[in-house]
Formats: sequence, structure tokens, C-alpha cells
Amino acid sequence: MIIKSAEFIMSNSEVAKCPKDPLPEYAFIGRSNVGKSSLINMLTNHKNLAKTSGRPGKTQLINHFLINKNWFLVDLPGYGYARVSKTSKKKFQRFITDYFEERQQLVLAFVLVDIRHEAQKIDLEFMQYMGENGIPFSIIFTKADKLKPKAIERNVAAYLEELLKTWEETPKYFITSSSSALGRDEVLNEIDHINQQMNALRQN
Ligand code: GTP
Ligand code: MG
Repeated sequence: MIIKSAEFIMSNSEVAKCPKDPLPEYAFIGRSNVGKSSLINMLTNHKNLAKTSGRPGKTQLINHFLINKNWFLVDLPGYGYARVSKTSKKKFQRFITDYFEERQQLVLAFVLVDIRHEAQKIDLEFMQYMGENGIPFSIIFTKADKLKPKAIERNVAAYLEELLKTWEETPKYFITSSSSALGRDEVLNEIDHINQQMNALRQN
């Protein structure tokens, strides 16, 4: 898919105030600092569309980006960031769970995990939560530029093995790097493919 346009539309802390347009929407979620905002910039080929930072906790709101004037990418705050006060945050911030449970336009979530680390409890719990709520997701492994090919292979295999302890089958997954643009075509093609399927359904 060619990205012809990518525009920031709005930031929100309430799902009810998110764009009303009935356009397919793809959300990026994962621990703080895993690389959600960087991935959005890499996919859209815009350096500063989504705000990134070396310090966790940069993205604090639900951010909508309109792509090619016909679908949305959504950048969300990270979960599992200890410095957010305990009262304002349970395990997953309330407006994140509200977003996933209420947002009708959401087609697919990408759960991002850092390819360097073994499966973290909070990510497995989040995927469990998605499964229990019937919210479709794929996994995106981030920061692949930090590992050699053999280590990438080993870590992905170990991750999938961990998932198979609780899941009957593993979700679709993508290996990416925002610095080398690895995985860009694969993620965009997946989105394009789903958008086309949805268009075909709508026309029937
Ligand atoms: P929050 O908004 O705080 O939840 O973080 P985020 O998940 O949006 O992470 P962000 O994109 O801000 O990136 C966090 C840090 O990781 C930044 O310093 C990025 O430069 C770095 N980073 C992100 N993706 C990659 C990658 O693919 N490779 C490398 N080497 N660094 C990356
Ligand atoms: Mg961010």
C-alpha cells in the first residue's frame, strides 16, 4: 500500500469523543516505550507525526491519524508504566479498556512487544484480556535492529512457545524495526488486505 496522506486528527481521553467517521481503525498498544509511536511514524513515513520519546509515558491520550483519507491509525498510551500514579491507573488504564471495549470502528489491534525480551507477564495478561473480550489482535515484535537474525529467530520461537501454553493457536505476528523500516510492507499489506475485504463485504 502506498501512503499518500497521513494527518493528525485529534487527541482524546474519552472514547465517546473520538472521530465519528465510520472508517476502519487499527490501534497500536503495548508497554510504555515499546515503540508504538515510532512504528506509526515508520509506517506513514513521517518523522514526527506521532510524538516519541526515550522516556516511557510519552503518549498519554488516544490519538487518531487519518491515512489516505479512508482509514485510521490510533496511537495509544502504554500500559505497565509504574510512574503513573496507582489511583489513576489500575493494571490497564481505564480509558484504554474503554477504548477497546467500546470503539465500534476498531478492526484490529496490534499488540507490540520488544523482541529483545522474553514474554512479560503484563503483555500476556493484556493478550488474555483481548481474547476474553473477543477483540482481534496481531503481535508486532519491535526493535529488531537491536538483534542479530539468529537471536530474532530464537526469541520469536520462544515467544510463540510461551503463548501456546495458554492459547490454542498463535496470533499472526510481524517482525519490525522503526529504524530500518523492517516489516513496513508486511504490516501495511495486512491493513490493506483487511480494508479491501471490508469494502467487498460492504458492497455485497
Ligand atoms: P509511550 O508513548 O511512552 O507508551 O512509548 P511508545 O511505545 O510510543 O515508544 P516510542 O515510539 O516513543 O519509542 C520509545 C523509544 O524507543 C524511543 O527512544 C525510540 O527511538 C525507541 N525505538 C522505538 N522503536 C525502535 C526501533 O525499532 N529500533 C530502535 N533501535 N529503537 C526504537
Ligand atoms: Mg507513544
